[in-house]
Amino acid sequence: MVNGKWNCCTSLRRDSIASSSMKPFLVIFPLILVVVFGIVSMMNPKEREEIIDLRSEAVLEDVNGIHNANFNHSLASTPFPVQLMQTPPQQSVINEKEVLKPWINSTDPLNETYVPHTRMKQQKKFSILDRTEAGLSQARAAIREANNMNQTQDPDYVPIGPMYWNAKAFHRSYLQMEKLFKVFVYEEGEPPVFHNGPCKSIYSMEGNFIHAIEMNDKFRTKDPQKAHVFFLPFSVVMLVRFVYLRESRDFGPIRKTVADYINVISEKYPYWNRSLGADHFMLACHDWGPETSFSVPYLHKNSIRVLCNANTSERFNPAKDVSFPEINLQTGSINGFLGGPSASQRPILAFFAGGLHGYIRSILLDHWENKDQDIMVQQYLPKGVSYYEMLRKSKYCLCPSGYEVASPRVVEAIYTGCVPVLISDHYVPPFSDVLNWKAFSVEVSVEDIPKLKDILMRISPTQYIRMQRRVGQIRRHFEVHSPPKRYDVFHMILHSVWLRRLNFRVHDDE
Ligand SMILES: *[C@@H]1O[C@H](CO)[C@@H](O)[C@H](O)[C@H]1NC(C)=O
Ligand SMILES: *[C@@H]1O[C@H](CO)[C@@H](O)[C@H](O)[C@H]1NC(C)=O
Ligand SMILES: *[C@@H]1O[C@H](CO)[C@@H](O)[C@H](O)[C@H]1NC(C)=O
Ligand SMILES: *[C@@H]1O[C@H](CO)[C@@H](O)[C@H](O)[C@H]1NC(C)=O
Ligand SMILES: *[C@@H]1O[C@H](CO)[C@@H](O)[C@H](O)[C@H]1NC(C)=O
Ligand SMILES: *[C@@H]1O[C@H](CO)[C@@H](O)[C@H](O)[C@H]1NC(C)=O
Repeated sequence: MVNGKWNCCTSLRRDSIASSSMKPFLVIFPLILVVVFGIVSMMNPKEREEIIDLRSEAVLEDVNGIHNANFNHSLASTPFPVQLMQTPPQQSVINEKEVLKPWINSTDPLNETYVPHTRMKQQKKFSILDRTEAGLSQARAAIREANNMNQTQDPDYVPIGPMYWNAKAFHRSYLQMEKLFKVFVYEEGEPPVFHNGPCKSIYSMEGNFIHAIEMNDKFRTKDPQKAHVFFLPFSVVMLVRFVYLRESRDFGPIRKTVADYINVISEKYPYWNRSLGADHFMLACHDWGPETSFSVPYLHKNSIRVLCNANTSERFNPAKDVSFPEINLQTGSINGFLGGPSASQRPILAFFAGGLHGYIRSILLDHWENKDQDIMVQQYLPKGVSYYEMLRKSKYCLCPSGYEVASPRVVEAIYTGCVPVLISDHYVPPFSDVLNWKAFSVEVSVEDIPKLKDILMRISPTQYIRMQRRVGQIRRHFEVHSPPKRYDVFHMILHSVWLRRLNFRVHDDE
């Protein structure tokens, strides 16, 4: 376990010494694959919960992995519909006993008012889990009420403006998270693969999140009974580096390591079996994140997967998974990368420089490479030209998907005050559960790449200035701080996990 000062890279150095004497986890815990999933799934230990969707009325189905929510960007335009949430009759102080109920398999989860109170009271003492769930019920009620209330005060930041689907509901939800949310990090597993991750490069968010949650004394709990979610602390980048056999094209060793790990924690603790993994989360910025999650069926079907590779046609499910921002931290820190001039000091209309990988880029380069002075698209920058300077001189920064859907350019654009132009297919941008990307970015479909210039020219200067100002306003949600600061990228990721957890209810089987 990492200890001492909060510093992503300090502990990395320590771990690289440990790596030479690494005893593979899989040797110690041989695989005991007793597949009784069919039986386990009949127990149905999780119930669908009223959906807390800060985005809109977009259909977020129950998250048991059987239904894939149909995520529809174009539906996501109206704010949080309080009336659709059917708040239970007014109870200003919610009595815990009123909220708790035996886990009846009600077909209508919104009909919370019908509770057989008297029978329930005699039935049993409330378990710790019941209390935890009651806390979540109260949080849901508080979030639903947010629209009828004045905006809550906040010494650091008050979310406001069209960048948020519903600023008040988000703020409420964020404050509820700070008040309640507890994460248990399994201590099993050894560095470098577990409890460790890269803090530099395009995969830096793996290491940053793992270290930030392990060092956190506000959200991290050492008592698993108090936890709302359980973190599986492996890094896919480290699995690829230390477990995968180079050039082998064989995912077997990675899968076996992850399956063994889940086997160990599900033998040792009751929590995985209790929810079939639904209240567990993993993360990956590496392209092989989805592949790694296929190691164990419930890991991809039920668990919350925090993935940079948020490609809905690769089974990324926005109702239960979380889009993880890809941030290229070359020096391990954001110092010196933030900020850029105002719109009038940005002479270039649109800019892109980058390698030819993935089909979207080849379409982009085919159409625009060295074709138009306003659309600066090239593979290599001339010597002496700074990439970051180009971002700061441009009004729009093109962010086409490469080999995978996520692009570190999105956050680079946001850091330098350039309006991002997302060119991707089936990509769910980070925090779209809270942020309305249309307010501060431009989405261009792959078919519209030839019309790129027209699309950008049609945006009026006033509209551009608005968007650019909003880019500056939401920048805080993408900033990486060590230790983390309120509303920064660490807290936003955690908030996305918190929102997913609000959408279901876990119960014990007896
Ligand atoms: C998304 O919503 C729009 C507008 O409601 C609708 O026309 C379109 O068919 C929907 N797409 C999907 C995939 O549901
Ligand atoms: C629970 O489900 C069972 C089987 O589907 C059904 O017979 C029973 O009526 C349900 N109970 C409630 C309260 O819905
Ligand atoms: C709630 O459930 C009760 C009992 O099943 C039923 O009588 C009532 O009509 C339901 N209310 C709604 C709004 O579905
Ligand atoms: C909201 O603020 C207004 C003006 O400050 C006040 O009159 C009103 O009572 C407040 N409403 C609530 C629900 O606090
Ligand atoms: C969880 O389920 C697995 C597979 O059914 C079983 O081997 C294991 O013992 C269970 N864990 C606990 C803590 O009961
Ligand atoms: C998204 O997933 C689909 C299906 O696997 C794949 O064809 C497509 O190339 C992926 N997109 C990117 C940019 O990787």
